[in-house]
Amino acid sequence: MEQVQRGFVELYGTEPEGVWSAPGRVNLIGEHTDYNDGFVMPFALPHTAVAAVSRRADGVLRLHSADVEGGVVELRLDDLAPESDRNWTAYPAGVVWALREAGHPVTGADVHLASTVPSGAGLSSSAALEVVIALALNDLYELGLPRWQLARLCQRAENVYVGAPTGIMDQTASACCEEGHALFLDTRDLSQKQIPFDLAAEGMRLLVVDTRVKHAHSDGEYGKRRAGCERGAALLGVDALRDVPYDGLDDALARLGDDEEAVRLVRHVVTEDERVEKTVALLESGETRAIGPVLVAGHASLRDDFRISCPELDLVVDTALASGALGARMTGGGFGGSAIVLAEAADVDTITKAVEEAFAAGGYTAPRVFEAVPAAGARRLS
Ligand code: GLA
Repeated sequence: MEQVQRGFVELYGTEPEGVWSAPGRVNLIGEHTDYNDGFVMPFALPHTAVAAVSRRADGVLRLHSADVEGGVVELRLDDLAPESDRNWTAYPAGVVWALREAGHPVTGADVHLASTVPSGAGLSSSAALEVVIALALNDLYELGLPRWQLARLCQRAENVYVGAPTGIMDQTASACCEEGHALFLDTRDLSQKQIPFDLAAEGMRLLVVDTRVKHAHSDGEYGKRRAGCERGAALLGVDALRDVPYDGLDDALARLGDDEEAVRLVRHVVTEDERVEKTVALLESGETRAIGPVLVAGHASLRDDFRISCPELDLVVDTALASGALGARMTGGGFGGSAIVLAEAADVDTITKAVEEAFAAGGYTAPRVFEAVPAAGARRLS
């Protein structure tokens, strides 16, 4: 934090009005359900984007990142326009654009930021950037917006300004997660329940394995899946796939007949929503180890039905399970990025070594493995 504050002073010559942070996330379960009005269950990582920010009154936005080569980027608020920017600056600028477009009186800002959220790893580094700016401007301009609404505005920045058709999970996770808890979120109405998730107390750990790959076309494939789900909902005559009841799934699939693509997408989304509810029920009744097979079933569904896994993610899951993990699955958008592994504390070293060796044997880049403990959501640091 001190470093970001100092960086601000060096760049802009004055102390910032404040410093804020917003975390990346991993998703425990509930993948590709958020744009189907379904359930998700992310928790915040200790990795954060930190921003030092001051207001300006002259319609200028100045942005600087310690993580990117190059100097301060200066933008005029009146010039901000959707899909006009293909750089990292589109995320913070998009938030300013979305706030102003919603009628909030933001008149400019000086920003210096730095992030420890690995980028391109499926851990929501972009949502962290968006949310930290939204929270800072909400505080400085005294907008009084609740966190769920900041998340919505950040999603709008990402969908319209950046041009990526993502759901609401990542921004809500960054804005609303609480330390020691996973966030059970209903993406239809954004109602939330904080579920205590303290694996260490029960002798377990959750590992994140960043495969360090991002396969080409992943962005286009995301949009295709989303469009395919919307098509499935239309064929079934429902607003969103969330509306297909679990016990009505067989009926729904029968109605889709030999439309194999729709069958696969619908089956994933409906069974995944059910897996989220099952995970919540198991955690609430203290049967934490029993979520392992639910995670594994989630991975199989993403791999075989939704078809967004990749050899590296499958290798993590298969190797971890063969080395004694309780459960494992890919997390996030897919086609690379990260997997999660649920394991007994005593098995962590064996599993980590096995995954590293499997990657070396397969000729893949060494993965980055770290333990994830649910951290705090976005907050003001000073
Ligand atoms: C990305 C998107 C989210 C969500 C996940 C898949 O992280 O940003 O909105 O759709 O993929 O669950």
